[in-house]
Amino acid sequence: MLHSSLSHSESRQLSPVSRRIAGLLFLVGFLSMNAAESAAEEYNYDESKVPAYTLPDVLKAEDGTKIDSPELWASKRRPELLRMFEEHVFGKLPQGEVKLRTKVRSENPKAINGAALRREVTVYFSADDNGPQMDLLIYTPANAKGPVPAFLGYNFNGNHSVEKDPALNITESWVRNNKDYGIDNNKSTDAARGSEASRWAVEKIVKSGYGLITIYYGDVDPDFDDGFKNGIHSLFEKGAAPRAGDAGGSISAWAWGLSRALDVLESDAKIDAKSVAVFGHSRLGKTSLWAGATDPRFAMIIANESGCGGAALSKRWYGETVARINTSFPHWFCLNHRKYNNNEQAMPIDHHMLIALSAPRPVYVASAEEDKWADPYGEFLGVYHAGPVYQLLSKKPLPSEKMPGVNEPVMTDVAYHVRTGEHDVKDFDWEQYIAFADKHLKK
Ligand code: GCU
Repeated sequence: MLHSSLSHSESRQLSPVSRRIAGLLFLVGFLSMNAAESAAEEYNYDESKVPAYTLPDVLKAEDGTKIDSPELWASKRRPELLRMFEEHVFGKLPQGEVKLRTKVRSENPKAINGAALRREVTVYFSADDNGPQMDLLIYTPANAKGPVPAFLGYNFNGNHSVEKDPALNITESWVRNNKDYGIDNNKSTDAARGSEASRWAVEKIVKSGYGLITIYYGDVDPDFDDGFKNGIHSLFEKGAAPRAGDAGGSISAWAWGLSRALDVLESDAKIDAKSVAVFGHSRLGKTSLWAGATDPRFAMIIANESGCGGAALSKRWYGETVARINTSFPHWFCLNHRKYNNNEQAMPIDHHMLIALSAPRPVYVASAEEDKWADPYGEFLGVYHAGPVYQLLSKKPLPSEKMPGVNEPVMTDVAYHVRTGEHDVKDFDWEQYIAFADKHLKK
């Protein structure tokens, strides 16, 4: 059936004309589906179909207490909201301690045309060298005199996709099959080297005095629905007991992995672990917001085009919807999240509260003009409505409820921009993240 051969994430890559034709074909397919299937296909590109909705008050506790002091926020409302996001959206992070071991695999003091020291470090999550593990790719400015602030974020295709350099190890983890890179058995190849280079402005980052740590997200949890068994789930979820409704899905697993990376960075002399910004694009932007909420050690949080389940308000029901995301990606969220399929108004929370969970730390949310799937306006409103918490904590929220113009970033103690173009990470985005980090992370 058409809807399975052309997903909306894929239709993001098409030209406007082919997208329109695809849209028409999609409509024909859509109308021929039965009701149950069509419910799963829900998405909306029509502002007039946005329902009337009321956002739950971020400063009113469930028992009705008005949250009017930083103390009450920290002791009552923040923990309550964190618990609600575990319960209704992402599920708990993997429970249980791991003993991390690390091994340096390579070191190149003259990477990126001599601008960076580049290291590959394997982090083992158990005593077994063949057990769950992740590879950190770490860049620091070659001329750094001491520890540097840094950006930490997952990549989609393996660390070898960040640079076209034969010296980088090719990931051995499961990867999605991809004709362009000759991948047909879920193992990456040489052809994928550098395939994500345009998304990682490594030279700009190190020349601005920052480190960059990136990890292939599939090391922590391969991105397909296998009933929560592979990746780090194998360490924590033994036995056949039915899965709890609030057990974490892949986004919680990935957020956990980012925190383990930060554990490792805390003993890395070249990184100032107290000044690490967690960054993510798209599904990994949802992840960076959840990592920022669950781990207060992250000094800054950046969510690039995170959309549904990220910065965008679910109750707006614009672009991708809860029913749609839970159907296409049943492994990302907790099982309880499915209760809100086509039932967003019943959610006791919304995603402005996810952003507020990072307050008072600086949060940057970014959109792309053509990325309607991620609902740019809903992403903007997410940051805007986190404002009362920033204000309560003596920080500056976004100044206006009016969405800024295209390519006109607004930065206070939170930040937002919508740039021209499609769903992607561009140099323009990195330039803004660096400027925001200069304001908040540079000593
Ligand atoms: C799909 C999905 C989005 C997600 C995106 C991505 O488009 O529907 O929710 O953000 O993939 O991660 O690239």
